Amino acid sequence: MAKITIRKTGQVIAGEDAVRAFLNGQGVYYDHWDLQPIPAHLRDKFVLSQEEQAEILKALEPQIQALAQARGYVKWDMVALSEATPNLEELLKKFEQVHTHSEDEVRAITAGSGIFIIKGKPDVGYFNVELVPGDVISVPENTPHFFTLTSERKVVAVRLFIDPSGWVAHPYEDPEFATA
Ligand SMILES: [Fe+2]
Repeated sequence: MAKITIRKTGQVIAGEDAVRAFLNGQGVYYDHWDLQPIPAHLRDKFVLSQEEQAEILKALEPQIQALAQARGYVKWDMVALSEATPNLEELLKKFEQVHTHSEDEVRAITAGSGIFIIKGKPDVGYFNVELVPGDVISVPENTPHFFTLTSERKVVAVRLFIDPSGWVAHPYEDPEFATA
């Protein structure tokens, strides 16, 4: 299950109900999917062919469709990052800058792990959400955030979009983040 760390206090929030309650309070959608439908031979694979990605999306289709219908997402695809990704470290450096989007950033982790750093309400400030397989998160539009990997350096996720062409990162200069 996901784990939250409030950056300015170091407070940790764990356990599905507490995590869900905290994230909902910050306006961040959170859910946890059953990944059993994913065929066993694809569960711990971090380099996936188009066919294998399609197979995973097919296996998760009922859960994807339910989320898409509930929240207005119309397209989805998969992303995989690992040491096999060319220029992984450079790519991560680019990711690790606070930014916003004009639509939700939705990720369902299917393998590996990752961390979203999100700007919460003023009394909370920035917090980390460490995500493990099954965790589903939607960072709301116009909410400052960035994504990075954990020390295991690998992740596979489903991404859902309202409009992929509008999904552009707008840098967000925030002195509060530097001191967080
Ligand atoms: Fe983003």
